[in-house]
Amino acid sequence: MEVAEGGRQSRPPAGAFLLYSSLLINALFFAHYFLISPIRLGDDGGSCGLSWALKAAREAEAVPPRTAPATGRCPARAPIVIVIVIVMHSGNPMFLEPYWTRHAAASAVVVSGWHRLSYRTTDGLFQSVELENHIRRLHKSVGNAVVDDKHLVFGAGSTQLINALVHALSISSSPPDDDGSAPASVVATVPYYPPYKDQTGMFDGRKYRWDGTTDTWANATTHHSSTTKNKTDIIEFVTSPNNPDALLHRPVLAGSAAIVDHAYYWPHFTHIPAPADENVMLFTMTKLSGHAGSRLGWALIRDEKVAKRAYEYVQSNTMGASRDTQLRMLGIIKVMLANLHGEDDIFAFGHDVMRSRWRRLNAVVSRSRRISLQKIPPQYCKYFKRIREPSPAYAWVKCEREEDEDCYEALLKANIVTRSGVGNGASSRYTRVSLLKSDDDFDVLMERVTDLVNAERYDAPDD
Ligand SMILES: Cc1ncc(COP(=O)(O)O)c(C=O)c1O
Repeated sequence: MEVAEGGRQSRPPAGAFLLYSSLLINALFFAHYFLISPIRLGDDGGSCGLSWALKAAREAEAVPPRTAPATGRCPARAPIVIVIVIVMHSGNPMFLEPYWTRHAAASAVVVSGWHRLSYRTTDGLFQSVELENHIRRLHKSVGNAVVDDKHLVFGAGSTQLINALVHALSISSSPPDDDGSAPASVVATVPYYPPYKDQTGMFDGRKYRWDGTTDTWANATTHHSSTTKNKTDIIEFVTSPNNPDALLHRPVLAGSAAIVDHAYYWPHFTHIPAPADENVMLFTMTKLSGHAGSRLGWALIRDEKVAKRAYEYVQSNTMGASRDTQLRMLGIIKVMLANLHGEDDIFAFGHDVMRSRWRRLNAVVSRSRRISLQKIPPQYCKYFKRIREPSPAYAWVKCEREEDEDCYEALLKANIVTRSGVGNGASSRYTRVSLLKSDDDFDVLMERVTDLVNAERYDAPDD
């Protein structure tokens, strides 16, 4: 500040002027930058406030839901529609996409580039304790599994846990130092989920081998007890509800070590008669929430030693389930929990969709003498507290005509790609049709099945 001799101010101080102008310019700049102009987004994801998060959010919102059917149809604007085939062999759970589109904001998770670099959580673990707690809460709220006396082991999808559990159980069933002991027999009941056999064969451990179906072992124990193994050397895969036929199953070889795969034991696919309480159970987000690509499955295991071995398998195989996935799935489970029994309950939504698909398919197939579907009765469900109509994930189609020995081929001629029952250890007269895909895919499937059934009128003999 410029002061006149004798301490008197001779004119307005230039310093004060500069200071006030500088403050004014800053205020104008601030107002322009933050209040008037749209928020700027730095290319580098920036250091300015929320910019990178907003950019990430904009990019996420720009991704449209994938609703078009996976057929050979031309895009809508093309003048000619060339229909090739409808691909219904995969269990891709796209039917849940509209649910998550409705819950886009609540279920979104934004992760910055610097976040979660470590292998481990802040507790030094590979598994998020928070996610574990939420999974337990979900099971308890739905009432589909007893969790209090179980250990939880995460995997990259339940697919990874299939072999992890065979490994854990086969070691626990053989005596510790007995390297010469016969390998454990891994078995399943027809029609079974093919990866049980494929994975057991692929990993081909000294301690276990794929040993066929449960009938062989049930008959062997009845008729040739002297030649049979100890039942604890048998690891039995049980799928309940079953993939492909949707029926609830229990282990058939009493005393065997059972791995009970409950991928579909949720109220959108089946009634829940009681909480499952087997020693070793498998679950997956894939069929629960539809997030197949995130790859998170978990095993609920009663015995601590078996759980430890399964956990060690996952550590040496992948160093734990992806932490990004664990974070995302935590957000997804929170949304499901917040809406349970409410207006937008995921199970009510899922059951409505799947029940309506099953009804429509049955209405058409019931007119057919060429193909038939598995029978599933309505049953009381403890979750919905009422009798609920069936809503299976798959149609297990049987070709009834003598000449249709290969049902997969018969449906392929009608432009429907399915999965042959041969892979499930069943007869080629059966084939599996997925009902899990998008609404558009299902509509095209219905067109094809209707054409197939209508064509029977022209094929029928004139009697
Ligand atoms: C019975 C069964 N178990 C396990 C899986 C594998 O699920 P994930 O996607 O978790 O590996 C599937 C997938 O279709 C399944 O049908």
